[in-house]
Amino acid sequence: MIKKILKFVFVILLIGFVVIQFIGRPEKTTTAEVTAAHITKQLQVPSNVESILKRSCYDCHSNHTKWPWYSSIAPASWLVADDITTGRKKMNFSDWTSLSEAKREARLNEICEEIKSDEMPMPKYLLLHGEAKLSQADKDILCKWVEAELKRIEETDPGK
Ligand code: HEC
Repeated sequence: MIKKILKFVFVILLIGFVVIQFIGRPEKTTTAEVTAAHITKQLQVPSNVESILKRSCYDCHSNHTKWPWYSSIAPASWLVADDITTGRKKMNFSDWTSLSEAKREARLNEICEEIKSDEMPMPKYLLLHGEAKLSQADKDILCKWVEAELKRIEETDPGK
């Protein structure tokens, strides 16, 4: 009897798993294209800063996303796609100018805050992307860069 019930439950779960594969399939957009709106065209981004952003942030905050294999399998695919959509909406390095000037400055400030408090990259992302973990040296490089860029923007802004 127990065996029969278990078998029944297993079959139901299996059918459920197959069915959800057809629901809400994320469109896995990605591109290598760097347009004029890209942060590297808008700000002065030294190569050591860019390589940290690339390694630790681009998956969710740019259009250069490397979609992992499990992003093809529901329900993991929904979670991955949700983080990427939300992350890009909040701040997309491929489309830096989609944010107002005030927001861009706010985001730059937040970059340093988020990494210092280990809120970014998202801790759950680091479980599967050990290479994206920031060392203290990486954090220092990013925070110094943010500070320098904010200063430069302020000095060159004709409105100020
Ligand atoms: C796994 C995806 C992912 C990665 C990787 C990631 N982020 Fe995020 N990030 C998000 C999401 C999702 C949000 C929106 C969170 C929210 O609003 O609660 C966000 C929000 C932010 C924000 C805005 C903070 C705010 O006030 O809401 C900043 C700044 C940020 N991320 C910086 C970074 C930096 C810098 C890196 C790399 C060192 C990084 N993120 C890596 C997904 C990611």
